[in-house]
Amino acid sequence: MVKKTKKNKMWGGRFASGPSSLTEEMNASVHFDYRLYEEDIEVSIVHARMLGKQKIISTKEANLIISGLRKIRKEFDNGNFSLDKSLEDIHMNIERKLENKIGKTANKLHTARSRNDQVATDLRMYLRKQCYLIFELLKTLQEHLVTQAEKHYDTIMPGFTHMQIAQPITLGHHFLAYVEMLERDKSRFKDCVKRLNENPLGAGALAGTSFPIDRKITTKELNFSKPMGNSIDAVSSRDFVMETLSFVAISASHLSRLSEEIVIWVSDGYNFIELPDKLSTGSSIMPQKKNPDIAELIRGKTGRILGALMSIFVIMKALPLAYSKDLQEDKELTFDALDNFIISLKSMIAIIHSLKPNKKSLALAAGRNFSTATDLSDWLTFSLKIPFRVSHKITGEIVKHCEDSNIKLHEIDLDTLQSYDKRITGDVFKVLDLESSVKNKTSEGGTSPNNVKKSAIKWKKKLAHENL
Ligand code: ARG
Repeated sequence: MVKKTKKNKMWGGRFASGPSSLTEEMNASVHFDYRLYEEDIEVSIVHARMLGKQKIISTKEANLIISGLRKIRKEFDNGNFSLDKSLEDIHMNIERKLENKIGKTANKLHTARSRNDQVATDLRMYLRKQCYLIFELLKTLQEHLVTQAEKHYDTIMPGFTHMQIAQPITLGHHFLAYVEMLERDKSRFKDCVKRLNENPLGAGALAGTSFPIDRKITTKELNFSKPMGNSIDAVSSRDFVMETLSFVAISASHLSRLSEEIVIWVSDGYNFIELPDKLSTGSSIMPQKKNPDIAELIRGKTGRILGALMSIFVIMKALPLAYSKDLQEDKELTFDALDNFIISLKSMIAIIHSLKPNKKSLALAAGRNFSTATDLSDWLTFSLKIPFRVSHKITGEIVKHCEDSNIKLHEIDLDTLQSYDKRITGDVFKVLDLESSVKNKTSEGGTSPNNVKKSAIKWKKKLAHENL
């Protein structure tokens, strides 16, 4: 049985009875949107000041409201607050607290605004703050990757394609690949902030207002770049959430790929790196186990983040203009995605900072699977002017011979090599070892230790001078 409750004190005027407890429970968002309290109070302070300046309320009233709101903010900051679900959301909870503090003047705060423009403004400000934090964390992660790259500019490891050992590369080069990805992620967040920075406040419920508000004042004081140009769009659009979550999803998928590599690298078959105990976990049954749970969780949380992205798209895709309560569903998934992305970033920073590469296993693996075969083909083409397709075929035959004879490429004797092409000279052995292979990859963006060292230094300088 659905129980009737008292009329809602904030909007109950035209109602004969209050919402049922079921409706109240369904409708309430304060248990998650309380996280917007800081933004909500800031928006209200600026709104009240603007109302005062525009003489919509008196300066005295504005000041009373502002001082009450400041006190409420302190209470929230100190964790000293209670929330009432029957007041639905954070906006109404704060308004009620204000009334308890300053009396009836509190009822003037909601002049010339609606929760619709209020919540859109709060959320934009919240996301903007999170984007700044994410940007900083991405930068810190880059710095740790660059430090590892600098340390391991000439540490040889196998490069993979199709998960098969393909060609030797340097570990520093591999780390710097992620630095590049994260740089693009950062530029996406930077760009996203530009559009988050548009001010919906003043749009009212959807139509604007007949009060002589000044949206330039609130825009300036809330650090937005401009007031949004259309009140309907201002209250009903959530592409700023879709965009932020898209960029979170892209960046999370980068972290997830790196996590996957870390899980592979610490596994027994590879043993490429070691993680410290403090970033590993044990098994409750197998005493010998040391598991890379943290990297696995980053990978797992990325699935959850992608789910949030899908959710917001589905929520939005058929929503008519302007505001519908469906829009309230934007917040939990956004908070969840951001929380999980941020803790993933912090975890990845800790992992990269402390992982220890095992140079021996890396070099051993780099030498497997005839990884310098391409260098042999290149030599045939470069030194003997054999067309590459032909060199490729000759090399394939040589590799087959080595495989059948159970020897490495550089262990083959010159006579055998000359049986494939008599012009081959002993010089060829200069390109078949791992060190030469990486050293020779001097093309721009290639894996040579020299390139990697220069690139790491360039990144270090760039990151040291960078701000959002
Ligand atoms: N809690 C609501 C939300 O998050 C605030 C806006 C409510 N507006 C309304 N017309 N009921 O979307």
